[in-house]
Amino acid sequence: MISRAPIDLPVYTDEVVRGLTSRPKTLPCKLLYDDRGSALFEEITRLPEYYLTRTELEILQERAIEIVQAVGTPVSIVELGAGTASKTGTLLRALARRQMRLKYFPVDISPAALADAKKRIRGQCPNALVRPVVADFSDGFHFLREISGRKLVLYLGSSIGNFEWNDAVAMLSRVREQLMPGDALLLGTDMVKPADILVPAYDDAQGVTATFSKNILMRLNRELGADFDLDLFRHVAEWVPSRSRMEIFLESMRPQTVALRMAHLTIRFIAGERIHTENSHKYTLEMIERMLCVSGFRLEKTWFDKREWFGLNLARA
Ligand SMILES: C[S@@+](CC[C@H](N)C(=O)[O-])C[C@H]1O[C@@H](n2cnc3c(N)ncnc32)[C@H](O)[C@@H]1O
Repeated sequence: MISRAPIDLPVYTDEVVRGLTSRPKTLPCKLLYDDRGSALFEEITRLPEYYLTRTELEILQERAIEIVQAVGTPVSIVELGAGTASKTGTLLRALARRQMRLKYFPVDISPAALADAKKRIRGQCPNALVRPVVADFSDGFHFLREISGRKLVLYLGSSIGNFEWNDAVAMLSRVREQLMPGDALLLGTDMVKPADILVPAYDDAQGVTATFSKNILMRLNRELGADFDLDLFRHVAEWVPSRSRMEIFLESMRPQTVALRMAHLTIRFIAGERIHTENSHKYTLEMIERMLCVSGFRLEKTWFDKREWFGLNLARA
């Protein structure tokens, strides 16, 4: 039992305490995306090693018209984990050519990212009505019910890969529960590929990913009164083929004690001990088809880039 001072603690405090007192130590990856984290992620998407954003955008640019035809119109667009919506304009412009009124609902935990998304989409697609929704997916997807008419739900950037298999199925099933038969899901998935391409994408030469990773500690220092010394942790990215995923850690470089003052918690690290901060699962087409099927969707079509590094999957509720 943790006794608390009568102050307003961040809503994620219990999750952090649970994660840092469990073995191995963990932190929820959603905490990476405060204002600074969202800006750093934007920087990551432009790195030469981070092929994901460029590749997904390439598919969208080449196939937008085909995708829109396959989805069927008219639809309202809801984008889960939209971030700054850096790729969405391409699809929205293709849709705007087929339907008079276009409603776009970017959903994200980061208000700063959503503010950028709104500005960007207004510039790229002035006819679209943009209605940002600040939400944490852990609280469910009720907002989907409140949007009338036929929907296309976008979940891009292979964000689904952050979830373990069972959690990904649970998440997609919860989305499915809020949809009507005939509604569509466009799911971006990163495909299995050699480690020498995957690892640098999560551990770039300039160290931007390391800074992004450590931002979670900086956030805990600021918001939970913690005293993590960022120089005493190193960013580690490993490809684990048996789990078909990249695993991201912050590793303590020596024995140390860290206090989280506002959570009344002190934690000890031995040298080399890690905090598991993120997973990024990589898929085969069979895995994608199975994941969608057990979540209540039918996979209709997958578009790949030339190298088949990334897939955009159209599924029907
Ligand atoms: C990997 S980024 C992808 C951003 C964008 N879709 C793209 O493809 O570039 C993941 C996004 O999901 C958001 N996110 C992470 N966890 C979330 C949660 N639990 N609820 C809502 N949004 C979340 C983050 O703020 C971030 O913008």
